[in-house]
Amino acid sequence: MPTSWCSIHRVVCSTTMRCDILTLFPAPVEAYLAVGVVGRAAVSGTLDLRVHDLRRWAINRYGQTDDEPYGGGPGMVLLAPVVVRAVRDVQGPGEPGHVVLPDPRGRPFTDRVARELAALPRLLFVCGRYEGFDDRVRELIHGDEISLGDFVLSGGELAALAMLDALARFLPGVVGDPESVASDSFATGLLDHPVYTRPRSFEGLEVPEVLVSGHHEEVRRWRLEQAVRVTLRRRPDLLWENWEQFTDEVRALVRAQAAADGIELAPKFQR
Ligand SMILES: C[S@@+](CC[C@H](N)C(=O)[O-])C[C@H]1O[C@@H](n2cnc3c(N)ncnc32)[C@H](O)[C@@H]1O
Repeated sequence: MPTSWCSIHRVVCSTTMRCDILTLFPAPVEAYLAVGVVGRAAVSGTLDLRVHDLRRWAINRYGQTDDEPYGGGPGMVLLAPVVVRAVRDVQGPGEPGHVVLPDPRGRPFTDRVARELAALPRLLFVCGRYEGFDDRVRELIHGDEISLGDFVLSGGELAALAMLDALARFLPGVVGDPESVASDSFATGLLDHPVYTRPRSFEGLEVPEVLVSGHHEEVRRWRLEQAVRVTLRRRPDLLWENWEQFTDEVRALVRAQAAADGIELAPKFQR
């Protein structure tokens, strides 16, 4: 039975998360994994990445991994024996890991799910293609079906890579400045504030004066106000969902911004 895999980098450190990706298209997956945050995590040994070509578990020498759907209809279906055997082989006898099945019918992928996954020691992403897997894969593998959003991709690769990229940001040492992750959108329950860099003036638009004032407290306050403002205008649902975790300062800013925008808050958010 095939057990070979492509290890992107073999440096392994004490806090290494192992992550296997099973796919019919290993080349583009490996190419993406070699760059950016995920690539750096692999080089530093925080992530032990292994990409497996599902075709290694094909049912015949023609490399067959799919077949027509019972009952007729369009497209092809990935064969259960191929996927189930591949997952079991890759899991091996030890820690089986948490199997993620990217699927548009799954639970929505969010910042919270990225943090959940980042806390696990081992992940296996199994990328679907065509019309998806034979449904018995779901029943036999008991994977965590996760959707990247309410749209249909042609394969699970982009979904797996997006999830992996997002969760890698929460692994220790992967993002240079941990404060950056702590203040990103969703981390505090708010969307991120706007950012600027040189030049100070561009096509008649100036960088807000406070950001060049050198007053740390005023800069902090301005950023918080902006984060509240953009969240109230674009994603008010986040404010109501995270209300209990907000400081009095954030709540007061939400009330002030809502009043300025003529938005009436529900009574529980007015107190
Ligand atoms: C063309 S899709 C199959 C769509 C399926 N027939 C449906 O309508 O639910 C092929 C594969 O892409 C992946 N995929 C597509 N959209 C996705 C999404 N929104 N989130 C996660 N994975 C997705 C899944 O692995 C899926 O098995």
